[in-house]
Amino acid sequence: MPHTIPRKGRHSKHPENNPGFHDSASFHKAAAIDVLNQILEHELAGVLLYTRSSLVVFGPQRRSLVQWMHEQANEALGHARKVGELITHYGELPSLAIAPTPETHEFETEPLLRRLLDHEIVTLDLYRQLLAIAKDGSVLLEEFARAMVQTEELHAGEIQKMLRPAEHPAHA
Ligand SMILES: [Fe+2]
Repeated sequence: MPHTIPRKGRHSKHPENNPGFHDSASFHKAAAIDVLNQILEHELAGVLLYTRSSLVVFGPQRRSLVQWMHEQANEALGHARKVGELITHYGELPSLAIAPTPETHEFETEPLLRRLLDHEIVTLDLYRQLLAIAKDGSVLLEEFARAMVQTEELHAGEIQKMLRPAEHPAHA
């Protein structure tokens, strides 16, 4: 009878009778699932951060910022769902947790945007970690991670542009 090797790392257990999809990919699956679950938790934190920010942003740019924050919250939820589907694709259990989002009591537009930028950079780094794990080991995960690095890098770049002084459009 085949022997099941217990896997280490958080979120690596999966329900019995739900072995999930098995392919010939040669990446470190437990490490990938761990990072995928961290990404899931951060994308869900993004839904919370963008939604909360949209509720407390005031000033002349409010309407456009609220609309943009709503779009970002929706996009983060879409990313979370995609990541969760990948986790179950491999027969693993998506995390029920959400990354911490401590209260900062900063409601000026610039600190709000800087916090969102920090969040984007952390999430981008997680996608880069996923890319490093998947590279040359799984076409599915590698292509997903590569596309997400591109998407998240553009998000971070957009916030950096929003934080730039208008009189120096060519400088960070
Ligand atoms: Fe995202």
